Amino acid sequence: MSAGTFAFTVHPRARLAEDMGRVWKPLGAVPEGFYATALRRLPLPPVDMARVHIGGEQVGRVLLVPFGARHMLAHVDEARRRVSQAVDRAVREGADVVGLGALTATVTAGGLSLRQRTGIGVTNGNAYTAAIIDDQIRMLLDTAASGRHVAIVGASGSVGGAVTRLLAADGAADRLTLVARSAPKLRALAGSLPETASVTVASSLDAVADADLVVLLTASADALLHPEHLAPGAVVLDATQPRNTSPDLATAREDVLLVDGGIVAIPSLRLAGGDIGVPPGHAYACFSETAILAMTGHRGHFALGAPTLAQIADVRARARDLAALGFAAAAPTCFGRPVDVRTREAVAA
Ligand SMILES: NC(=O)c1ccc[n+]([C@@H]2O[C@H](COP(=O)([O-])OP(=O)(O)OC[C@H]3O[C@@H](n4cnc5c(N)ncnc54)[C@H](OP(=O)(O)O)[C@@H]3O)[C@@H](O)[C@H]2O)c1
Repeated sequence: MSAGTFAFTVHPRARLAEDMGRVWKPLGAVPEGFYATALRRLPLPPVDMARVHIGGEQVGRVLLVPFGARHMLAHVDEARRRVSQAVDRAVREGADVVGLGALTATVTAGGLSLRQRTGIGVTNGNAYTAAIIDDQIRMLLDTAASGRHVAIVGASGSVGGAVTRLLAADGAADRLTLVARSAPKLRALAGSLPETASVTVASSLDAVADADLVVLLTASADALLHPEHLAPGAVVLDATQPRNTSPDLATAREDVLLVDGGIVAIPSLRLAGGDIGVPPGHAYACFSETAILAMTGHRGHFALGAPTLAQIADVRARARDLAALGFAAAAPTCFGRPVDVRTREAVAA
């Protein structure tokens, strides 16, 4: 039996009508332009979108913050107010832990703006996300005929910084290229890594041009990584939500292997109500961290801001305790379709 319950916050991503249709199908038919204005202007409360069942037991809820990805990034104060309302609702519903999905983490500075909260534990889910991305990177380096020059785009972020530190700790990559728009945080990160690591920092995506594996961990509403950025035969691991790659990348560059990042297999997972855009039995890693913490009885805040290596080890151990329910990186997919990373061919689902 689960040792606690959780709430997980999500929001409509870049295509607002498509994601509102996940709450209730007819909402998907409303014109995009209407949502762009209405979600921005109307003081809409959080929506109880789905009940979460794992192992046949109800363990959590998904709460939708009705504010689009572009709204979130352009109106951070309002976004924070709305995320805070969702946390109020989670408290009222008796949740032990609340996890911050997608840009609800970014606009709250990785949950730091909620650290005064009592009565509920807050996590940005980024400790387990970093663990899963680290597992996926090592799997790709070992099996996808990839060289070992890894570029982390968004390396100064909450997930990106943790993934960089995990890779640098044991020299999993021969070379690390760390990319973000602003250089000071990147330089500080690079300076904190073991001296054995070969590290370059850059503020332009052009720096990924000779990387064998590009890991995308940016927070943007738009596609940032384009076909012309990538080396021949490069591998891209994209964990962004909303996605910062477009499906056109895979068709424009058939030599490139594009793998969805941060997806976890939990075969008994069922959502009653809306769906959050992952195949049945699968979940985002940040969602999974929230479930893991609640189900293993964690109380109090967990990952806020940048997750620590100790938190990553802790959540990995908790996930191992739940291994009978899955809680491991999902088999590789490209935009939701199974892919064989050795042959780089699509495989039947
Ligand atoms: N799959 C999952 O389960 C899962 C879980 C957690 C997070 N995520 C996703 O992972 C991504 C990162 O999350 P986070 O919480 O780590 O975000 P974050 O802390 O806000 O970090 C974002 C990073 O991206 C960089 N960045 C933003 N826009 C950029 C641009 N146009 N070009 C280059 N770099 C850019 C930022 O640095 P600058 O601002 O200096 O550029 C920063 O390094 C988000 O898309 C989030 O939704 C997925």
